[in-house]
Amino acid sequence: MQHEGNLEEFQDPVNYDLEEIPGSEDRIAMIRAAVTAQGSTTLELACGTGVVTLPLAAAGQHATGVDLSRPMLEHARTKAAAMGLDGCTSWHHADARQVRLPGHVASAVLTGNAFQAFLTDADQQALMATVHAHLEPGGLFVFETRNPSGHPLRDITVWEPWFEYRSTEGHRVHVGGTQRWDAATRVLHWTTERRWTDAGTGQPHRRTARIACRFTAPDELAGLLAAAGFAIERQFGDWDGSPLSADSPEIITFCRRAA
Ligand SMILES: C[S@@+](CC[C@H](N)C(=O)[O-])C[C@H]1O[C@@H](n2cnc3c(N)ncnc32)[C@H](O)[C@@H]1O
Repeated sequence: MQHEGNLEEFQDPVNYDLEEIPGSEDRIAMIRAAVTAQGSTTLELACGTGVVTLPLAAAGQHATGVDLSRPMLEHARTKAAAMGLDGCTSWHHADARQVRLPGHVASAVLTGNAFQAFLTDADQQALMATVHAHLEPGGLFVFETRNPSGHPLRDITVWEPWFEYRSTEGHRVHVGGTQRWDAATRVLHWTTERRWTDAGTGQPHRRTARIACRFTAPDELAGLLAAAGFAIERQFGDWDGSPLSADSPEIITFCRRAA
């Protein structure tokens, strides 16, 4: 897996927040409730700009964030300082497959479908070993991944619109893209194209970014977790708490490190 080559989407943290924070309320609330009930220390792997890490810190957690994108991590650090959360947050530029920090935490989080950035069995196993190494026995691990049966896993070759947002520069940005499905590796290769028109000059702009995401079915996930020493406690199909079903958009898993 070429991690540095899979980070094109994570070079513009300010606009990332504009795209991602709206609609994250249920996700943050569900994770925060579980994490705060578990203890007072948490590790978020692939934390990005701290969309979830910072609300956890604001709720009283000693929160550690790890990410491979320097711009995302620096933005998280800047926001933490602005929120007065310097003292209860720490940020580490590292690969979640290899990072080893001192001590143990009560809970670990991997969200924003970041699990899908781990593109091979070996990557997923290395990720799970990292979670296991940092969690205290009985500790909680919360993560989600898009449900393969709830998504169109096929080639889409003509740009299709997904959503819009207002950029920091004030442009209405139309976000859409194409996708290529590799059934052998179960990896979806998205090419996102953001389109906007400069209001002053009328000049059209386009910016593309590629990302590869692996899709893992519930039974494969169960096997991975059991082999890595985790017991699944509960699963949901969406952040509104709806049950996991064949057409659920997400597989949200709450599991525990075996004691
Ligand atoms: C979709 S973002 C999710 C960010 C954050 N968890 C959220 O909910 O907004 C995925 C993040 O995974 C990070 N990432 C990808 N591969 C990684 C790796 N091997 N180790 C650490 N971070 C990684 C990217 O830099 C990016 O910030």
